[in-house]
Amino acid sequence: MLVQVPDILAADEVAHFRATLDRAEWGDGRSTAGPQAAQVKNNLQLSEDHPVARELGEIILRKLARHPLFTSAALPLKVFPPLFNRYEGGASFGMHIDTAVRYTSLPPHRVRTDLSATLFLSDPQEYDGGELTVEDTYGVHKVKLPAGHLILYPASSLHAVTPVTRGARIAAFFWVQSMIREDARRTLLFDMDCAIQRLNRDVPNHPSLVQLTGVYHNLLRAWAEL
Ligand code: NI
Repeated sequence: MLVQVPDILAADEVAHFRATLDRAEWGDGRSTAGPQAAQVKNNLQLSEDHPVARELGEIILRKLARHPLFTSAALPLKVFPPLFNRYEGGASFGMHIDTAVRYTSLPPHRVRTDLSATLFLSDPQEYDGGELTVEDTYGVHKVKLPAGHLILYPASSLHAVTPVTRGARIAAFFWVQSMIREDARRTLLFDMDCAIQRLNRDVPNHPSLVQLTGVYHNLLRAWAEL
């Protein structure tokens, strides 16, 4: 399931991110890629422990923790400290799959990558190309969102970033270990949560809402891995 999460960052926050990132020194993006991905990766990144990456990453983590749609869709247990990348001058990232378990030293722990996330920091009109291309059983999806918006997709999907032929595509990216490992179960819970929230708005006092909410929590209790 691909889920768009709008408005993680407001316009003034995006502007702050961009100004801060413009002053940072960027390195080779292959430093965080596994051997297969490194062969097809051609972009710039901030190192994981770069002070700018840490400062802005902390802001993103605080925003995610307060975002109801992100929480409902990802059911996060752990979020990998966000990284930042930059594609320009024809840079691209060919088809690859993300490493299943990632290690971070901030603080030292491992994260199973159930979900991959890209937070766009450039607006679509600022660059040509640079679509995130995600393959799933329903075909190929091309994603290019406004700055400040996030896409969440199963980390088990093959994906790529097409060459950026004009301007620069700047983004944050990270992974989520979900309390619900399986995409199919997480999707069921997300669909149920969305339906319950809609019913709460439209028929707020219907007695079945208590029962449905109970079913949601009992499924979460049965499936959650902490
Ligand atoms: Ni990837």
